[in-house]
Amino acid sequence: MGALGWQQILRPWILLMLVGAIMTGVVLLMQYRVDEAHASTQRILEHPIFSVILKLHHWASAALILLSAVYLLLYLLSGAFRRPTHARWYGALALFMLAMLFQLTGHALPWDQRAFWTVAIETAIAGGIPLIGDGLMIALRAGESVTDATLSLWYRWHVYFLSAAMAAWLVWSVRLGWWRDWSSSAIRWSPALLAAWVACGLWLPVPFGAEADPQTNYSARPEWYVLPLHASLNTAQKLDPEAGWIGSALIPGILIALLVWLPFLFKSRADEARSPWLSLGAITSSTAALVFTLTAAQNVASPIREPEQKSASAGYPVIPIDEQKAALGARLIQERRCLKCHIVNGEGKDKGPELTHVGKKHPSAQWHMEHLKDPEKFFPGTTMPTYDDLPPEQLEALAHYLASLK
Ligand code: HEC
Repeated sequence: MGALGWQQILRPWILLMLVGAIMTGVVLLMQYRVDEAHASTQRILEHPIFSVILKLHHWASAALILLSAVYLLLYLLSGAFRRPTHARWYGALALFMLAMLFQLTGHALPWDQRAFWTVAIETAIAGGIPLIGDGLMIALRAGESVTDATLSLWYRWHVYFLSAAMAAWLVWSVRLGWWRDWSSSAIRWSPALLAAWVACGLWLPVPFGAEADPQTNYSARPEWYVLPLHASLNTAQKLDPEAGWIGSALIPGILIALLVWLPFLFKSRADEARSPWLSLGAITSSTAALVFTLTAAQNVASPIREPEQKSASAGYPVIPIDEQKAALGARLIQERRCLKCHIVNGEGKDKGPELTHVGKKHPSAQWHMEHLKDPEKFFPGTTMPTYDDLPPEQLEALAHYLASLK
């Protein structure tokens, strides 16, 4: 059976980026040291050659995610996942998942503020899943909180387990015949792709900031490849602050299960011509994913805030606290389930910062109103839900109470 044209074009490109990522990864492995993650990354970035290798690694992984996602999408649209050639569909799915896992774990390795806080947020989101969440979070963090042990766990995954899985995938892909039937035009265009990659390595910077510091509360902006997940999380949280896990775990889980199941949901290719429903479904879901991504991108378009700018509520007037409003606010804190994520006077859970003395840090009730209406404005990428649907007098009461917590 002849492969489809787009497969013949994308596969050589995927191979090119895969080989590029592996080769640069091996070089980096020799330079990077997990016990001095930030310092060794800094040394790599200051070195004239290794810095380019690091950037090439960065951009090859990004290209792999994009190419394997496009590949998967075109596969879906073409209906070619149906039996009897479904093994190749699983091959494409496995490649995409591997690329994502490599990216997620690799993102932690520089161990700068961004890396640290992204890991903290991602694992906290996993911790929000009912029943298994707490155990899962501890497993992912290699402990209760994010520490060097977390980094070394993610490093081992990136360098050993995922690499072994990738090696196994490569063997499998040869057996699936992935690397046969290349399109000659794709090969003719390969030097252009290579040149674009090298240009990215030479001229595009990769983000790298101050060393991870658990004492600050820096907020990491979600990376582009998790934007659809982030949007789904936000939407679920808008419906119910506690329902975040539905968006971040249940819906993606169901989607992945569906993709795995797909070859068995449809008749085999011999039985039936292409189904129009399938294309319709694929187009609708990819449009939805795109819209989700764009809305999420818009939400996080503001630049990453440095910690010192962030914590200050400077510029907001401090007004005298109204005791009556504050008393109502104290009740609302309970009713509005803020304690699901915050500790106030020893009560509640610590998914977010403790609020017992938040009035010292943010003395302005005005600031609290603005923050509750749109937490993203102050903490881009935060998991805290928006409360813009509260009646103004309730918002005000909450704000007076929070400002009174000295
Ligand atoms: C789903 C969890 C969640 C819920 C529910 C939640 N928050 Fe938060 N909140 C957070 C997180 C996480 C942060 C930290 C912001 C960041 O860096 O992402 C935060 C930050 C804050 C801050 C700023 C604290 C600081 O130290 O700067 C205040 C004030 C606050 N929340 C108040 C509330 C109130 C009041 C409610 C209820 C109406 C509430 N939160 C509900 C997760 C939550």
